[in-house]
Amino acid sequence: MPCFHLLMGPNEELELAKAELSALAGHICGGRVATGPIAPDVTRSAYVRLSAEQLASGRNWAQLGAAIARLDLRCEGYRIEVFRPGPKVSVNATRFQKSIADLISGRPNLDNPRIQFALIVAQEMWRFGVIVSRSAQHWRSQANRPYHCSHGLASQMARALVNLVAAPGDTLLDPCCGSGTVVAEALRDGIHAWGVEINPSLARQTAANLRSLKLPANVIVGDARRLRGNFDAAVIDFPYGHSSPVESSLHADILTNLRTQVDRMALICGCEQSRLLHQLGLTIQQQASVTKGQLTRYIYSVSTKKGQQPGR
Ligand SMILES: C[S@@+](CC[C@H](N)C(=O)[O-])C[C@H]1O[C@@H](n2cnc3c(N)ncnc32)[C@H](O)[C@@H]1O
Repeated sequence: MPCFHLLMGPNEELELAKAELSALAGHICGGRVATGPIAPDVTRSAYVRLSAEQLASGRNWAQLGAAIARLDLRCEGYRIEVFRPGPKVSVNATRFQKSIADLISGRPNLDNPRIQFALIVAQEMWRFGVIVSRSAQHWRSQANRPYHCSHGLASQMARALVNLVAAPGDTLLDPCCGSGTVVAEALRDGIHAWGVEINPSLARQTAANLRSLKLPANVIVGDARRLRGNFDAAVIDFPYGHSSPVESSLHADILTNLRTQVDRMALICGCEQSRLLHQLGLTIQQQASVTKGQLTRYIYSVSTKKGQQPGR
């Protein structure tokens, strides 16, 4: 059965949203409404609002309505949700909910539904299906932590970066952890995550942030260029604002140190770095860019030679 996925978040983050969905669902096509062969568990996702198994589709309401009628649906205790993809776009949901309910035999249950249907109203294709999984949007709770730093990641983006390279049960390193946004997102999902930060004051802020979220304070003061360890994954949010030779050498030094200790990495750079990654023998799996104001973040998910060794 074909599946569809609805992506949320601002347009500037759509490339990252698609990369996250690919990491969770494998091969996908499309934009804000993407399609693919499977509907994975997207509870921990940042940008995948929901994944559904598609029951019917059409280029407009007339075609879709006819396709739904042909399904001869019989079910008790359902709810229909209507989505119009794109930030802050609304649609007259009630009209379509009523029209679809007329095509289903059985009673709806809006408060405690047994089955949840999604209707996607989009210009190119209308889709109707059964929701299999939806994001719990846990990343929202970081808004209440005590410390945020000006160069920090938004928790939604941090959540997606973790999903690019790690799954529950994995070990993960954030070697430039700042105030700990990535570490918090990873720990919350049962990933064994550690943060390292060269600035002791920021390391203390990370510890306080993690404690406030009732997570273990897994952070140490250290230099990413000299760390030793063995991890499934790393998320590296390099210090940005410069693309000077010094900055590039910091990137190179950190990656050279960690490429033999980590299998997969999500990298966030303030400048385009694909050449450096190739030179260091890192294979780019996915890439995306996110521009906000003056800052463009270049995001890469890469595998290392260590991660590509047979039997891993
Ligand atoms: C872009 S910030 C990370 C922000 C973090 N992702 C957050 O959301 O709070 C980069 C961090 O790297 C730290 N840093 C710079 N050089 C480092 C090094 N050699 N080892 C460890 N941390 C380093 C900086 O102090 C800064 O806090």
